Amino acid sequence: MNNTYLKLFCGGFSQQKLFMLSTNVKLSCLLASFCAFAVWIYIFAGISIPFIHKGRLQNQEDFLLRCIKGKSFKQTCPTNYPTTHYPTNQSRQVCPSYFRWIHEDLKPWKDKGITREMLERAKKTAHFKLVIVKGKVYVEKYRKAIQTRDVFTLWGILQMLRLFPGKLPDLELMFDCEDKPVVPLDKFQGPNASPPPLFRYCSDQWSLDIVFPDWSFWGWAETNIKPWKDTLKDIKEGNKKTKWEDRVPYAYWKGNPYVAQTRQNLLQCNVTLDKDWNTLIYIQDWIQESNQGFKKSSLGDQCTHRYKIYIEGWAWSVSEKYIIACDSMTLYVKSNYHDFFMRDMMPLQQYWPIRDNSKCSSLKFAVEWGNNHTQKAQAIGDAGSKFIQEDLDMKNVYNYMFHSLNEYAKLLRFKPKIPRGAVEFCAEKLMACDVNGSIIRRFMEESLEKVPSDSNPCTLPPPYDPLTLQEFLERKVNSTRQVEIWEDEYWQSKINGQ
Ligand SMILES: *[C@@H]1O[C@H](CO)[C@@H](O)[C@H](O)[C@H]1NC(C)=O
Ligand SMILES: *[C@@H]1O[C@H](CO)[C@@H](O)[C@H](O)[C@H]1NC(C)=O
Ligand SMILES: *[C@@H]1O[C@H](CO)[C@@H](O)[C@H](O)[C@H]1NC(C)=O
Ligand SMILES: *[C@@H]1O[C@H](CO)[C@@H](O)[C@H](O)[C@H]1NC(C)=O
Ligand SMILES: *[C@@H]1O[C@H](CO)[C@@H](O)[C@H](O)[C@H]1NC(C)=O
Repeated sequence: MNNTYLKLFCGGFSQQKLFMLSTNVKLSCLLASFCAFAVWIYIFAGISIPFIHKGRLQNQEDFLLRCIKGKSFKQTCPTNYPTTHYPTNQSRQVCPSYFRWIHEDLKPWKDKGITREMLERAKKTAHFKLVIVKGKVYVEKYRKAIQTRDVFTLWGILQMLRLFPGKLPDLELMFDCEDKPVVPLDKFQGPNASPPPLFRYCSDQWSLDIVFPDWSFWGWAETNIKPWKDTLKDIKEGNKKTKWEDRVPYAYWKGNPYVAQTRQNLLQCNVTLDKDWNTLIYIQDWIQESNQGFKKSSLGDQCTHRYKIYIEGWAWSVSEKYIIACDSMTLYVKSNYHDFFMRDMMPLQQYWPIRDNSKCSSLKFAVEWGNNHTQKAQAIGDAGSKFIQEDLDMKNVYNYMFHSLNEYAKLLRFKPKIPRGAVEFCAEKLMACDVNGSIIRRFMEESLEKVPSDSNPCTLPPPYDPLTLQEFLERKVNSTRQVEIWEDEYWQSKINGQ
């Protein structure tokens, strides 16, 4: 048994402390009787583990999972995890600028707030209602989500609450784990509009859905993609393996093309004997890879090309962060859907825009441009990666979740209450302790936040003033248009030259 295992099931005795206790002769008698009592409790009442460690845990470095084993014992939520946040470090940083979009997403409710009636209307498509009352989490489940999306989303929220215990006000929210946004902007115009507030993983410019980090930050069990903290480490290691100049000077994409028409089109851009679009496309066969233990789909080994293509699927794609983090220049095919961070990224600075209606010629031009301007292409790749590696590290993901929920809670015009029949969730109960030695359990152990954060959440930047926002959006449009002009000139000169 290794250390982690020991800690996990023995509730966090460190080797050191066990040793000290057993050598302390004066204590040993007391300890023996205490142990006997504890064993008795364990066998007959099933409350031993939290009981033994009450008080002691305050001195421990890590608060590990405390699962109660045994058939007749009911898993409970530990009562001694801190309920108040006392950060030792009082300095505060301003959050990354994409946090400003929290204000934009919540704008429809800014003036009139959110009533219970509005919330309940969001139930129509929601998979669950999340309730936080006095720092505790209660969940009312409505329907089954795809794969483990809901499980890891709830897990993520629980980890954020472990980082910042007692810091969030009470709230109730509806969460929809499906891909596509469902709250149409055009149905909720005008001063009397009261759209239902609904959280999900992505939205688009025609919808009012509130975007929130997706499950994959804590792991995507079905595809063996580890929690983001570890995946990012792998990608950073992978980046060191091949320097930019030594990477394959082609655009690269690997994924499942059959989820959307736009991806199927992309297959046509693959290099063949008589057509070279400077693009290499590979199909990810999840079933085959799963049978082979996902040996070929390690994300850290996919940073071998100078250019990496991002293309949305059925909606936004979780692959985005893995692609942009690669230190390659991201070729970003024009997208309809956005997640919580993408809106703040700037074409020509952090990625290269690709047309969605003539992908192959657009890709060919981009790669040729990059190979002609290697320093600039590399700088764009670096800037994009830096954004993902720093502004989107796990700490900031938790910061974002905190502020998103904190701002949302301020808008509630009713007193959140525990729904009848709703059950309390915590890292142990209905989560990690209730899944067996599976990959789900492993990802949960790996992404468990073991102690409250030593500092406060970063400071939320103020909303964009309308002029700055308009100018920002205009700059995006301008840069994209600039690339399209270069592209047209290039192809025009090819035609003229023939
Ligand atoms: C305190 O927090 C700030 C911002 O989070 C960080 O930059 C700094 O290194 C921390 N200081 C210590 C002593 O941990
Ligand atoms: C694309 O071309 C490469 C190189 O010829 C090949 O290995 C790959 O299988 C092709 N991809 C598809 C989807 O046909
Ligand atoms: C790249 O450089 C070659 C040789 O100078 C030139 O013919 C080609 O048009 C350039 N392509 C782009 C996209 O800049
Ligand atoms: C765990 O395994 C046991 C026995 O193998 C099974 O009865 C139980 O349903 C499993 N629990 C979960 C949550 O998968
Ligand atoms: C965008 O381009 C237009 C026309 O070229 C120009 O007038 C405008 O100042 C540009 N806006 C920004 C924000 O760069």
